[in-house]
Amino acid sequence: MATWATIQTRLQGLLAPAVVLRLGAASGELDALPAQEQRLVDGAVAQRQAQFAAGRMLARDALIALGEASQPLLKHRDGSPMWPRGVCGSLTHTRDVAAAVVARRHDFLSIGIDIEASRRFPLEATDTVLTPAEQLWADSDTRRLRVFCAKEAIYKCLAPLGWPDLDFRDVELHWQHDLFTATSTASAGCRPPQLVALRGRCARLGDHTAAFAFIAAPASG
Ligand SMILES: CC(C)(COP(=O)(O)OP(=O)(O)OC[C@H]1O[C@@H](n2cnc3c(N)ncnc32)[C@H](O)[C@@H]1OP(=O)(O)O)[C@@H](O)C(=O)NCCC(=O)NCCS
Repeated sequence: MATWATIQTRLQGLLAPAVVLRLGAASGELDALPAQEQRLVDGAVAQRQAQFAAGRMLARDALIALGEASQPLLKHRDGSPMWPRGVCGSLTHTRDVAAAVVARRHDFLSIGIDIEASRRFPLEATDTVLTPAEQLWADSDTRRLRVFCAKEAIYKCLAPLGWPDLDFRDVELHWQHDLFTATSTASAGCRPPQLVALRGRCARLGDHTAAFAFIAAPASG
């Protein structure tokens, strides 16, 4: 079985060089975090603390690779991480794996990542998550999970730009192999103009699916 390091290298190779990805087991040591970060998960169950710690450690490693000083990564009231000035990023964790992506805001306005473990996609969630056109395309649990994963990455990319109310059915995905773009649906209550510039890609990592969403900074093309 591939190691997390091998998977990180493979995924990093799919991303623009300006994006730093760190990926590893979702089992971090809370004690290894600065006290301000530990306080963010005071009273949480052990699994959540371990995932949180793994995400924070990976994020710190990614930020250092980007040239940032090591510092506590606190969070906004909505739960999104407080990235250092001039940096954007995103975190995700499942029971097994955690990952962080970061980039300079002069390269990307925002980025989002999501990873989901393979599972049956719950039938009752189909209409909530997928538009009718997406339901035609997504004729398997694998594809339905891909759509879900991509939309979670899109949410994490757009919420920090001022779109916290974006709903799954506000957005429709258009696929070309593993790459996707997105448009607002006719019934969308929320229409972020940045959606036009959003680009994404999905990748399989063993029994997980990963999705990345990016909005390039205007000057960087
Ligand atoms: C916030 C949300 C996207 C998190 O995704 P998730 O699959 O449940 O969990 P993940 O492990 O992948 O991600 C959790 C991380 O997301 C980040 N996060 C939380 N809220 C966030 C927000 N508002 N904006 C950006 N990132 C956020 C945090 O870093 C969090 O990890 P941490 O608490 O350890 O720092 C999800 O719970 C949610 O609310 N989804 C509904 C909204 C949505 O996706 N709409 C689709 C629009 S197309």
